[in-house]
Amino acid sequence: MKFIINGGKQLNGEIKLAGAKNAATKMLVASILTAEPCVLENFPEIGDAQITQELCRSIGSEITVADGVLTIRTPEIKTSKVVSLSRRNRIPILALGPLLARVGEAEVPILGGDKIGPRPVDIHIDALTAMGAKIEILPDRYVASAPNGLHGTKIELRYPSVGATENTILAAVLAAGRTVIHNAAIEPEITDLIEMLQKMGAIIELGANRVIYIDGVKKLHGATHRIMPDRNEAVSFACLAVATGGKILVKEARQEDLITFLNTLRRVGGEYEVIKGGILFFKPNSEPLKPAVIETDTHPGFMTDWQQPLAVLLTQANGASTIHETVYEDRFGYAQDLNLMGADIKVETRCLGELPCRFKNRGFNHSAFVAGPKELRPAQLVVRDLRSGIAHIIVALIAKGESVIEGVEEIDRGYERIDERLRQLGADIRRM
Ligand code: EPU
Repeated sequence: MKFIINGGKQLNGEIKLAGAKNAATKMLVASILTAEPCVLENFPEIGDAQITQELCRSIGSEITVADGVLTIRTPEIKTSKVVSLSRRNRIPILALGPLLARVGEAEVPILGGDKIGPRPVDIHIDALTAMGAKIEILPDRYVASAPNGLHGTKIELRYPSVGATENTILAAVLAAGRTVIHNAAIEPEITDLIEMLQKMGAIIELGANRVIYIDGVKKLHGATHRIMPDRNEAVSFACLAVATGGKILVKEARQEDLITFLNTLRRVGGEYEVIKGGILFFKPNSEPLKPAVIETDTHPGFMTDWQQPLAVLLTQANGASTIHETVYEDRFGYAQDLNLMGADIKVETRCLGELPCRFKNRGFNHSAFVAGPKELRPAQLVVRDLRSGIAHIIVALIAKGESVIEGVEEIDRGYERIDERLRQLGADIRRM
């Protein structure tokens, strides 16, 4: 499927955020920890959530969805073997912890790297092994068992991985004794997951300095939880407002989830107003945007999923900006596409920044110079991954004339009915 976009128009109006992709998918998996029903409100209609529902159904979950409310119940685990799903996402590895906790065994497929880097899961595997799991690594899958059950222990994560933190929490809530996770990730989606687990009966403490304490309980029960709004959608729409010189009210956007982004947006010359029910994003004057120095980091730093829409803004800034990506080694593929549309982005293997970086001197293209301002022109593009896909859409909406973006299924994985919602802001975008 493709989008045909006629750009060059200001976008104005209101758009409501969907429930967060990176919370909703994890909550489906968390629901497996109990036989009772869990109710997830504000459930997003996105591809990744569909794939995760297929996964849950395949192991025995019953799911109904009505008016954005999803109810899931897994009375029994029919199989602890998660087969490779045709449309892949990275969620199956997170089923290891809950399946081990509930039935003492699990098999999940090995997912290869993807377009943003190799994405290993060694930290997940080490954490679960420390908790008593025996994990055999076969060419195509992990086969895990916990013959004596999982037990709590002290775990120091080598890197504050979001997925590994979630996997460990999901395994620890029903494990015997106390698990302490040092150097844990503390993204808002993780806090949201913890809130759901607390409602289900778990005991989880968020300590200072990235330490999370979990006291295992014997049993969890069902719960009702409203999924937090998607902060990545919020950033995409904020960049769209400033890039097209329009004014967009992003309903349900929460300042607390966006503090670092809001500072960056103001520094580059965009503006926002936090009002009841959301945040209004706009460009306050006709001055050109200003360049910036961006370094992505784990929360509360500047998120890796925000650099792509921001890079589009920086192509319009008066001067040279730098972006240093410290989370993924290969997240600048989209620079080539933007250059095709008139941008001037040079990708570098050097660290263009001060933050400690795992990719230093390792030859990865993980930094970029963005020179601006450049006039952008339409083009024919193929989506590489979800976040570069949204950058394509923003660029196409700025560039005067007709752009064609192919492979939009990738964008549908994380953005709910994006074309329909953008049309309500005045965008000329058609799906074919
Ligand atoms: N890493 C390892 N070993 C591991 C786990 C991670 O080396 O065992 C490395 C990764 O290769 C990567 C870094 O650690 O370089 C960060 O990975 P992390 O585990 O934190 O990311 P994730 O859980 O796989 C989630 C989001 C991503 C988001 C990152 C960072 C989901 C489903 N995905 O991925 O979202 O960029 O956290 O915040 O929650 C997206 O939504 O488009 C997306 C890619």
